[in-house]
Amino acid sequence: MQERHSIHGTWANRWIFILAATGSAVGLGNIWKFPYITGENGGGAFVLVYLVCILLVGVPIMMGEALIGRRARCNPVNAMKVTASESGLSTGWQAIGWMAALAGFLIFSFYSVVAGWVLNYIAGMVRGDYIDMGREQAAAQFELLLADPKLMLAWHSVFVVLVMLVVVGGVNKGLERATRIMMPALFALLALLLGYSFTTGHFTQGLEFLFHFAPEDLTWDSVLVALGHSFFTLSLGMGAILAYGSYMPKSASIGGTVMTIAFLDTLVALAAGMAIFPIVFANELDPGAGPGLMFITLPVAFGQMPGGQLFGFLFFLLVGVAAWTSAISLMEPATAWLVERLKLERLPACLILGAAGWAMGVLSLGSFNVLADFKLLGMTTFDFLDFVTANIMLPLGGLFLAIYVGWFMQRTAIMDELAMKNRLHFNLWYGVVRFVAPVAVAIIFALNLYQKLA
Ligand code: PHE
Ligand code: NA
Repeated sequence: MQERHSIHGTWANRWIFILAATGSAVGLGNIWKFPYITGENGGGAFVLVYLVCILLVGVPIMMGEALIGRRARCNPVNAMKVTASESGLSTGWQAIGWMAALAGFLIFSFYSVVAGWVLNYIAGMVRGDYIDMGREQAAAQFELLLADPKLMLAWHSVFVVLVMLVVVGGVNKGLERATRIMMPALFALLALLLGYSFTTGHFTQGLEFLFHFAPEDLTWDSVLVALGHSFFTLSLGMGAILAYGSYMPKSASIGGTVMTIAFLDTLVALAAGMAIFPIVFANELDPGAGPGLMFITLPVAFGQMPGGQLFGFLFFLLVGVAAWTSAISLMEPATAWLVERLKLERLPACLILGAAGWAMGVLSLGSFNVLADFKLLGMTTFDFLDFVTANIMLPLGGLFLAIYVGWFMQRTAIMDELAMKNRLHFNLWYGVVRFVAPVAVAIIFALNLYQKLA
């Protein structure tokens, strides 16, 4: 096949792709979700299962997404069509692209609500709201935010606009420029916070919690959570990596870049855990506090520590930046689709998507107040969207993608795109995509279903 080109442009170089994709990967999943689900699932054993999922399922599937994107050089829906026709397959494989787009849209809607909370906390830290505040009071403060749809709506709207401002600029003037500024800032902030936690927290206690191995803490439920999270954290199964891959220079090696991205994402998750748990333990707070861990426990801790106001501000700034770069990648695939398919300019495409994501977010936001009694499968809209996307849609999307790449897509096209010099490496990857990844996902799914029904 003759080499294709994206109408949106390409990343300036391989490192920009790595940083942009890392920006997508590193987000609320690493700093908010990973620590609290680790806390809820007992620590070390959960972390180990999570790492295995990243290595055996996440990385190989991420390579699959990136290679489809770069091969087709277009949005996820069309990319499935292009590579399927190249392989002489039915264009029905596009369905994977559609499911991905839907998952991305649903994630965006609740993601920006949580990001809105983060913005509210940045402001709170600047005001010094949490200085010497007790746990009860901080919990009440968080409740107050959740009970206030207007305040949440304001921050949610600000966040959606921030995301649109970047996406509208396009690959080079928007995404790439944001990446060049925000990613170095993100790493600098994280290093600073880690140093702070190292000097003021109970560092070893935090480490022990993250890395002690207690298999009895593991249930099939926590294995599913670990699997789902490995998809969520690497931005897999919803087309983000596929879209970013479509802007990837031809010369960059997919295997190497994907490994780097997965490594950086894991590093940030572990670093976030190492920054958060020592502070939690130093202040005798509960690591299993759930979603409130970041929004209740941490502000209390910061409020009691020397320099806490400044570092609390820096912490929430870090989370805000991370959420921003991730949300950009949630909006980009659908934007690319509207631009390519409906021949829209970026501005109207972003306006449409921003408005739709915003409106959907309002449903999530209402889960905590006016719509609290509206339940789907016994869950509020917010919990339902989180559960359905992370634990069902992303793993299923990944499963189908692995089956597509491993069993259907033309092997020569794959080899051409991966351009791996080492045959053994290729065979290893191919074997994992064909057998290990799909079987692992299928088993974890089936066992969970069985448990739920039994
Ligand atoms: N990977 C992001 C995080 O960890 C979330 C995300 C999922 C972003 C899917 C884009 C696509 O926060
Ligand atoms: Na992540």
